[in-house]
Amino acid sequence: MAKYEVKKIQDPNDKTTLEKKHVPYFVDLPEKVKKGEYFDVTLRMGEEIEHPMEEGHFIQYVALYADYFQLARADFNPEAKAEVTFKIKLEESTTLRAFESCNLHGQWEACQEITVE
Ligand SMILES: [Fe+2]
Repeated sequence: MAKYEVKKIQDPNDKTTLEKKHVPYFVDLPEKVKKGEYFDVTLRMGEEIEHPMEEGHFIQYVALYADYFQLARADFNPEAKAEVTFKIKLEESTTLRAFESCNLHGQWEACQEITVE
């Protein structure tokens, strides 16, 4: 593994345990939204397996991007659940990216296309 690698799901049909725990999951993200209107983006770490939140092993933050433009970010302590809902609005169709950092297992990315009408 390269030191500066941001990890993603390699095979959606055969996810590793680390992928299931770490890759940010977009909960109920709509495929289409209206231009300039706020909507919710909920991110949970992870999808199939809830990531531990304890001293020594926890999700440090998750940041939401429109392509590579940062929209929002949440920082966590081990007392918090690794889940957050941002309210955002978009002006054009884009790729939403979520970057998450685990203090032990590095950085992970998920992305999803979203259409703005
Ligand atoms: Fe971890």
